[in-house]
Amino acid sequence: MTGQLNARGDVAVLVPAAGAGLRLGPGGPKALRMLGGEPLLAHAVRRVAAAPSVRTIVVAAPAAEVAAVRALLSPIADVTVVPGGAERQESVASALAAVPRDVAIVLVHDAARALTPPHLIESVAAAVRDGLPAVVPVLPVVDTIKEVGPGEVVHGTVDRTVLRSVQTPQGFRHDVLAAAHAAASDLLTDDAGLVEKIGVAVTCVPGSELALKITRPLDLVLAEALLGLADPPA
Ligand code: CTP
Ligand code: MG
Repeated sequence: MTGQLNARGDVAVLVPAAGAGLRLGPGGPKALRMLGGEPLLAHAVRRVAAAPSVRTIVVAAPAAEVAAVRALLSPIADVTVVPGGAERQESVASALAAVPRDVAIVLVHDAARALTPPHLIESVAAAVRDGLPAVVPVLPVVDTIKEVGPGEVVHGTVDRTVLRSVQTPQGFRHDVLAAAHAAASDLLTDDAGLVEKIGVAVTCVPGSELALKITRPLDLVLAEALLGLADPPA
């Protein structure tokens, strides 16, 4: 996770971390829950900071935890911490406002994807640097997906081959992400969705199983196990 070869320093990474973690059960904001003796957010930021292209990191913290998050992260990386909002999209918008104008590429990540490997951050940034305006890391969908109606009656089976599970970090030209957020009228679950709405192409690149979003209690168990592996899956 170290190594500064080919450092370009043209990337800002936004790390929304202001969510409550309701699906994880009682226990405070998810980004501050412990994994292997450290808060999820510390794991996430350490991996972001290890990506050589990253110049700027902006974390959106729970409003009541801004000072605590600054103290937590200052030994790990040079990080700007801003208060997040009530919805993820608002937290991302607050973090985006803190990015210097001259940064060319902005990645939007999730603190909850705490084990995301630095190489995924680099590959998303590289795809934007090479000319794509908006990039999302994806995995194939493994389950069969059904469309259902009232009473849980199945209407049909969706063709799985055209579906993708979308992860973060999602990468954007800075101007494209800024325009998408400025035009946002609805709350969406990801930033690429906002970019789609302004008519800019979004392209998929290979994601990583390690970039799983820690959402439910079983995900924490899996993440603990992954942390203990000498040679985890890519
Ligand atoms: N997030 C945020 N601000 C919010 C809501 C979410 O910054 N108002 C962040 C979370 O901290 C997380 C990421 O967005 O890193 C993805 O959100 P999710 O996995 O849904 O986390 P939570 O909202 O915390 O979890 P839950 O939905 O179970 O409450
Ligand atoms: Mg949420």
